[in-house]
Amino acid sequence: MPVAVGRLWCMAPTIMMNSPLDIHRLQGTADLLPAESFRWTQAEQVIRGTMLRFGFGEIRFPVLEPTELFARGTGASTDIVQKEMYTLTDRGGRSLTLRPEGTPSVVRAYLEENLGSQRPVWKLFYLGPMFRAERPQKGRYRQFHQFGAEMIGAASPESDVELIALGHTILRDLGMNAVRLHLNSIGSPDARRAHNEKLLAFLEQPDVFQKIDEDCRRRVQTNPLRVFDCKNEECVRILRHAPTIDQFLTAEDQEHFARVRHGLETLGIAYDLDPRMVRGLDYYTRTTFEFKTNLLGAQDTVCGGGRYDLLVETFGGPATPAVGFASGIERILAAVGESDVAPVALPRLDVFVCGLGDNARGLTAAILSRLRGLGLSADTDFLGRGLKAQMKEANRLAARLALIVGDDEIARGRFALRQMDGGGQSEIPADPSQWDKGLFVGVNA
Ligand code: HAM
Repeated sequence: MPVAVGRLWCMAPTIMMNSPLDIHRLQGTADLLPAESFRWTQAEQVIRGTMLRFGFGEIRFPVLEPTELFARGTGASTDIVQKEMYTLTDRGGRSLTLRPEGTPSVVRAYLEENLGSQRPVWKLFYLGPMFRAERPQKGRYRQFHQFGAEMIGAASPESDVELIALGHTILRDLGMNAVRLHLNSIGSPDARRAHNEKLLAFLEQPDVFQKIDEDCRRRVQTNPLRVFDCKNEECVRILRHAPTIDQFLTAEDQEHFARVRHGLETLGIAYDLDPRMVRGLDYYTRTTFEFKTNLLGAQDTVCGGGRYDLLVETFGGPATPAVGFASGIERILAAVGESDVAPVALPRLDVFVCGLGDNARGLTAAILSRLRGLGLSADTDFLGRGLKAQMKEANRLAARLALIVGDDEIARGRFALRQMDGGGQSEIPADPSQWDKGLFVGVNA
């Protein structure tokens, strides 16, 4: 069950003056500095653009939710709920959890906002941080970021294909070519009941039960299907002989799956069938899928999802089919970094203003304001340094132009505009109200 990690009570901080900083970011979390943040922003723009092209609208929901939402939605027998949630008690004694995934929140919002009564199908996407108390390693973090998409209200196999095509397109748009789709159907509850019986009989054989690890023995009691989540090599080896769900699918499940496969083949999206891929969450029915890459080592799944036709009902809503996926941004950016796609570079600064002397420094704020008002990026030196040091700074920022504002220039009513790539120097009027953007663009832009 959830681990209580703290109480959300405000205490007056004790300030220790001059003591060395001995506070570190938590394990499994990261600071993103500007160059890295820029890569993220670019990726987020690509993701949002493709989502919108596919007709998905953005939903933003709280980071903190009632614990019960995940206990019921994600599922009591999952590793997430059993051991990975960041759960705390608030001042009113309520149990709250930092969202470990987005799907239960989307379904909560769907019901709470009464979306089903407004139109039959909703296509929603989200992007943001998720939290899981997993053992950190490369590609596995405690605060990580997902983008996800959910289509609520459609039962057709074509809606599964639409979601898989969306995931495939975004990964490709982000520069991830080396991915492979793994596909399975875990069937309807009828199929799973039949499978469960045979799986349980297999797992309870003494020579199997004694060899599987403690987690898997627990899974035998709670939800035997979850044994397929196990990564322990010995368990994986034993489970190669376990009955798989594909042998138990009902005629309707098979028909649904055949149409999903046909749709993917029509789109030219290649896939591998993987009857042991059950995904680590309890709500799936029928289609499950994952995109994996060979660029990342153990944490190789960059996107995972499937159909969850019973989740809306689990929360007391009407029978409402749904399908969706989520994808880890850290893993995608790491994989793209490993591939031969050229890294995105920070955009160049348009104009660096070199203010020389007190008079000039008194003018730079107005100069910067005018340049930025014209839609240009502009920066200056705030340390009162000489021309040489300021030109060095302009180079560091990859400025296209340096605008030199010294006492002589002010006296002459003309500022010098230098092209940083060695393209020479010209003069412009000192009065910013006479400037237009044309004076500054076109030069090595
Ligand atoms: P999930 O498989 O738990 O599914 O997570 C989706 C993706 O999030 C993973 O494939 C991985 O890329 C990324 N991810 C998960 N945990 C971590 C972690 N600790 N560190 C870094 N990345 C991670 C879900 O979350 C479902 N809500 C997907 C879904 C939506 N199914 C239907 N609709």
